[in-house]
Amino acid sequence: MLELKDLHYRPSTAEEPVLKGVDLKAHASQPVVVAGASGSGKTTLLELISGLASPQQGEVCWESKPLNQRQRRWMCGVVFQFPERHFLGLTVAQEMRLGHRRVTTETQTQALKKVGLAEIDLRQAPERLSGGQQRRLALAVQLLRQPAILLLDEPTAGLDWSVRNEILELLAQLSRDRLLIVATHEPEIFQSWSGATYRLISGKLQEIPRLS
Ligand SMILES: Nc1ncnc2c1ncn2[C@@H]1O[C@H](COP(=O)(O)OP(=O)(O)OP(=O)(O)O)[C@@H](O)[C@H]1O
Ligand SMILES: [Mg+2]
Repeated sequence: MLELKDLHYRPSTAEEPVLKGVDLKAHASQPVVVAGASGSGKTTLLELISGLASPQQGEVCWESKPLNQRQRRWMCGVVFQFPERHFLGLTVAQEMRLGHRRVTTETQTQALKKVGLAEIDLRQAPERLSGGQQRRLALAVQLLRQPAILLLDEPTAGLDWSVRNEILELLAQLSRDRLLIVATHEPEIFQSWSGATYRLISGKLQEIPRLS
């Protein structure tokens, strides 16, 4: 279980704190959706959980033990918004080797299989893939290290509805084996998911009750 305890965070260049006492308990099998207005701190929260930033106050715990920044980086895979804009590899295989030099071809193939890209040509340029395939590739890259927590920032942004539904289905599938945390400004489309939905408001998380 992931537990966020009273997280407070003010970026060094910001005048006001962005997070002012965030609490959350999340079980691995229950995906978490974090909604909130633009600028409410969704991306910032993902940065804290994943160890890209550290809170000034509060703790991030896993199975009741506090995690330091390095442990959080190790445990988390993060896919930021529009990941396809940041592909650097000349081929799919090269993209997957960036930062993972020791990864075997078998691990690569397994990761691609998990995201439904088993049939893809590894010599293809990432930018030649379709929009949905590019999002899948970005997920596969993060799966290489088998993170216990997968954090996704606006995973459905900029996708047309059919591709969006494909990605939603894939994410629901991936959430069975790891804790998935999704930041989104369109929580409605995740309504059929089994987990909980929260809204980040005034620097805190509030659970949104289910409609059904
Ligand atoms: N490094 C930083 N320096 C100064 N201010 C920052 C920094 N990082 C974030 N902020 C501020 O923190 C607030 C929250 O930003 P954040 O990007 O987390 O919001 P968000 O909910 O992800 O918004 P969006 O829906 O637009 O992606 C914003 O007011 C932003 O200006
Ligand atoms: Mg954001």
